[in-house]
Formats: sequence, C-alpha cells, structure tokens
Amino acid sequence: MVLEEGFGVEEFTHKYETKVDYNLAEACCYSLSLNDVYKLTGEKFEINNDSRFTYGAIDGTDNLRGLVADLYSDEKVKFTKDNVLITNGGIGANFLVYYTLFGKGDHVICVSPTYQQLFSVPKMFGADVELLRLQKENGFVPSVEQFKKLIKPNTKAFILNNPNNPIGSVMETDLLEEITKVAQEHGITIISDEVYRPLFHSSDRVPKSVAQLSFDGISTGSMSKAFAFAGVRLGWIVSQNTDFLKAARSKRHYNIISISMIDDQISQYVLQNKKKILQKNKQLCLKNLDYLSQWVKINEKVEFLDFPKGGSVCLIKIDGISDTQKFATWLAENKSFLVVPGETFQCPGTLRLGYANSEDDVAKGLEILSKSIDEYKEEK
Ligand SMILES: Cc1ncc(COP(=O)(O)O)c(C=O)c1O
Repeated sequence: MVLEEGFGVEEFTHKYETKVDYNLAEACCYSLSLNDVYKLTGEKFEINNDSRFTYGAIDGTDNLRGLVADLYSDEKVKFTKDNVLITNGGIGANFLVYYTLFGKGDHVICVSPTYQQLFSVPKMFGADVELLRLQKENGFVPSVEQFKKLIKPNTKAFILNNPNNPIGSVMETDLLEEITKVAQEHGITIISDEVYRPLFHSSDRVPKSVAQLSFDGISTGSMSKAFAFAGVRLGWIVSQNTDFLKAARSKRHYNIISISMIDDQISQYVLQNKKKILQKNKQLCLKNLDYLSQWVKINEKVEFLDFPKGGSVCLIKIDGISDTQKFATWLAENKSFLVVPGETFQCPGTLRLGYANSEDDVAKGLEILSKSIDEYKEEK
C-alpha cells in the first residue's frame, strides 16, 4: 500500500496559513468561540470539572450521535444514534469509509474536481479510480449518462461531493435520485462527502442527503464548515445500512478508539444550538458572496468558473494568468494574502476563493487581489 501523491491543497495552505495577514483560502465559515455561541443563543457551555478524563464514550456519546442523526431525519426516514459513527473530522470519516470498503480489484468512480482525499485515498487502498469530470454544460454536476458510461462489472462505488469543493455546485434531489437508481441497479454504493451541508444558501431547495435517499447510501459530515467549529476535529458517517456501519466500527478501533471527551461535549452544545448558528453562517455566506459578486462584476479580467450555489468556496479565472500555482505562491510570499491555486483541485488556471471568512478578510483580500492582478507579470 503506497500513497504516491502528496495532498496538494493541504500542503499549500499549511505552508502559509498561519503567516499571512489575509486569508481567502479558508473553506470553513468564520470559526466561532464558545463565547460567540453564548452571545448568539444565550446558552452557556458548562463543563463538569469533576469529570475524569477516561477514553470517554468509545462510539461518541449517545446524545451526540442522536443530535447528528437528527440532522438527517426527515418525514420518510428516521435516523437514530445507531445510524451514526463519530470520527476525527470529515477527513477521518472519509478515510474510514474508504478503509472499510476498498481494496485491490475494486473500480471506483469519483467526481472531479473535488477535494483530493476523495480519489487519492481509495487509490491508496488499491482501488482503480476513474474520475468523472464535471462539465460546464451540465452545471458542474455529474450527468447520469456520464455515470453510466463509466460503470464496469467491478464498479463498487461512486463518490460524490455535495456541495462541491471547489466549485460550489449543488446536486439537487432529482438528480441524486436518478443516480441512486442507476447505482442500485448495478449494486454500486453511493458515497457522498457532505461536509458543507447544509450550506445551500443560493440553491432553490435543500437537496436530500445520500443517506436519506438510499438504504446503502453513505454520507460523511463535519463540525468544521457550516457549524464553524473546525477546532473540535469532529465528523461523522451516517447510513441506513447498519451492517456497513458495523464493519466500519470494527476498522475504527484501529485508528480512532474514541474521539476527545471535550470535543464530544462541545459538539453537543453546538448542535443543540444549530438553528441560530446555521442562520448566522448562511447570512455570512450570502453577504460575502454578494460582495464578491460585485467585485467580480467590476473587475473585467475576472470571472467565476460557475456562480456558487452552496458551500463556502468557488473558483475564479483571471484573464492573462494561467499558472495560478505560481501566482498564488507569489501572493502568499509577497502580499501576505492566501488563496488556493486551482492546480491543487485539478483545475489549473483558476483560484479557489473561500468567501465565508470574516468580512474584513474578504474586503481586504479582494482589494489586494485587484492591485496584484494589475501588478503581476506572468513569465512567458
Ligand atoms: C470536501 C471536504 N471533505 C472533507 C474535508 C475535511 O474536513 P474536516 O475539517 O471535517 O476534517 C474538507 C476540508 O476542507 C473538504 O473540503
């Protein structure tokens, strides 16, 4: 088992993110403190100072798993704590799903562009991974025809990312239903990275989760993005298929044991107060996206690859700048301003902007970007 590929986006952002003054590489909604939540909700986080620090509830507390289950329950399907596995972040959730399911001889289809983990790690476990390229003419979501064309006798799973990082495109329920139907006919598991859920700020309706749509569907989620609590490093896997969860739980013992007791308690507190937190974060996305749209409009050289409908990130193209890896490096090193080069998201010639950071980062960052576009001379 050899992983040949470095994790482009994480390596790039890790190098600069603590050193720059302005950050539009951030994909999380502007991170909150416990006091921010208190001010927003009037509910105080209380900790029991007599509580001994054991490994805690190995699976995550029943209350936490129940609160996560509530995020997915709808009029048709009721989820309970038994449909939830708690992990170290969304990244831990994805890793555990792939570790449980994939090995040599498996064929896996994965959308692209997307977060590199979604196709690099299945490869690492020996799967033969084929990328389904998201196209402008399909609104940067997979088409059923594209999916059908890639299916092989040994296709085990189709990996989705909804909302999509880096484009911000959203797969609506109708399309998800069609894809799920084809998958069921071929015995293919749909796995959906839904860490930006429920940030569907600019789409007409909130699409269903893959876990809601099919018995075998597997969804991964996280406290990091919409809930603005990346620091608790807490994520989850949700599925109706408890046999799959049982298999994943058995693998989980090898690399998690349990998550931190403190993270569990803070996540319960945040999820109990989710309504106001999500409201605030959706408003932040809309406000900053509006500012960004105005900026794009007045900058003749700049255009969106696609206007984002969900999540907190989007891609832009800049006329005259094709090596965006070099440009983003130059911005970080000379202008103390961080954005993500599209090269780390299989989209060379673009920049990924996160627009859910503070209003100050967005305003100052875009000011720097405007000046830099004029100043920067690309080497030919
Ligand atoms: C699509 C996607 N999945 C997973 C992750 C990992 O998130 P977490 O902080 O929950 O581990 C990220 C982080 O950027 C992401 O964009």
